[in-house]
Amino acid sequence: GSREMMKMEAAIRPHVVCVPLPAQGHINPMLKLAKLLHLSGFFVTFVHTQFNFDRLLKSRGLTSLKGLQDFRFETISDGLPDGNQRGILDLPQLCTTIPVEGLCSFRQLISRLVSPAKHDHHDADVPPVTCIVSDGVMWFTLKVSQEFHIPQFMFFTPSACGMLGYLNFEELQKRGYFPLKDEKNLFDGYLDTEVDWIEAMKGARLKDLPTFLRSTNPSDTMFNYNIVAVNTAMHAKGVILNSFEDLESDVLDAIRAKYPNLFPIGPLSMLYKQLSNSSNTTQLESIEVNLWKEDNKCLEWLDKREKGSVVYVNFGSFVIMTPKQLSEFAWGLVNCKFHFLWVIRPNLVHDNTNSGDEKLSDEYMNVIESCERGLVLGWCQQEKVLSHESIGGFLTHCGWNSTLESICEGVPMACWPFFAEQQTNSFYACNKWGIGMEIECDVKREQVEELVRELMEGQKGKQMRDKAMGWKHKAEAATSIGGSSYNNYNSLVLQLKGH
Ligand code: UDX
Repeated sequence: GSREMMKMEAAIRPHVVCVPLPAQGHINPMLKLAKLLHLSGFFVTFVHTQFNFDRLLKSRGLTSLKGLQDFRFETISDGLPDGNQRGILDLPQLCTTIPVEGLCSFRQLISRLVSPAKHDHHDADVPPVTCIVSDGVMWFTLKVSQEFHIPQFMFFTPSACGMLGYLNFEELQKRGYFPLKDEKNLFDGYLDTEVDWIEAMKGARLKDLPTFLRSTNPSDTMFNYNIVAVNTAMHAKGVILNSFEDLESDVLDAIRAKYPNLFPIGPLSMLYKQLSNSSNTTQLESIEVNLWKEDNKCLEWLDKREKGSVVYVNFGSFVIMTPKQLSEFAWGLVNCKFHFLWVIRPNLVHDNTNSGDEKLSDEYMNVIESCERGLVLGWCQQEKVLSHESIGGFLTHCGWNSTLESICEGVPMACWPFFAEQQTNSFYACNKWGIGMEIECDVKREQVEELVRELMEGQKGKQMRDKAMGWKHKAEAATSIGGSSYNNYNSLVLQLKGH
């Protein structure tokens, strides 16, 4: 009967379990990869943490999260304590709890998914799991795949240049650059020391490497966590990156020396456009994972602006700035007299001297309201915004997704890197790719004004825009039929299917 047929089909269909780190900048690219694999015939299980799953439901007023029959959501625990301290993701804490609690619940999940029908007759049409794609920083998942003999690939969602930085953390330690000898080294010019032993990073300084090296504590959680992650990945079947050969060729060669089975398949959003061309993907597209509710009124607002006239300002999901820094950006933006669209995430501003979230003071709101050129929102659909022709430049924290999304739309950037490998992304954007200008860490309104003006209408701005367009075309070539990312993706799919 048809039930038997269903069972047989289920038994031969490849089933991938995708496990992102539970943060927006990691969930987004993993979801893109999961959708691609679904297009390539995989049954997909996408793993959220219970906390994020509940948050997604709550922000949408839903009781269940819409997936598809063959694109389902499951949850694991992140081990973080419940309560209202959860507004801002505490990464060091997460990196301590999730390898323990997440590991246990992930093991339970996989032991169920290796023979789904046995555990629950509702799952008769769920094929047994055949492969796992885990975020590289969710390294502990590899223990489970090894226990169950399931092939696993690691997807590192940041840039290749950032990853090369992490791959050099042990070397930094050996050479005595980590831990810092003194807190003062953060400010005394020490971080300007050139890093001259990484060929593919010529010209980079300590301050251009991932910020987790900026610690005097030899057992710093984030520094050591990243070492474990890059080392664990050497035992996975392969490593996936959201980048493309032309953009980071030297860096990718250096990384290949550590991970020979390397798959740069980005930009994922472009590859998705290419592969979804002929399919009906309406249902697949309706799956989304925004942890904040997006406000779409900005798209109409952008429709009314002139081509290339608007500065788009967004600092992603992790950045926390002081009220003073916010105020410097606000004045800089007001003073340069361009239209600007500014996303101020609800918990973007925090004053270290206070314990709670700092409300935007009347002063800032007055600044923004008195100048009718600005529109301020809490969260937007960034890829839609960046693709709008009214956008002329992007003031960004250089998160890898934002950087790549900007490249995909040929938009030049003013960079204010905050942490992790954002500093490395900014270094490459400004010094290697020619598409960015960096704002000092200690942000001043005068510099914001000057750089944004240059970005929008200066000679350098024009050159950067041309360069960005050039990269956009190279990205399109990489993801088109026969391009490097396209080919790498096809090889990846074959390996994931066990060929
Ligand atoms: C960052 C970077 O991913 C990463 O490089 C670093 O290691 C860890 O932190 P995040 O701050 O989230 O994460 O930045 P980004 O990589 O730019 O990702 C943000 C994602 O959210 C992007 O895909 C962006 O399109 C989306 N976004 C952001 C929105 O859709 N709307 C918004 O308003 C803001």
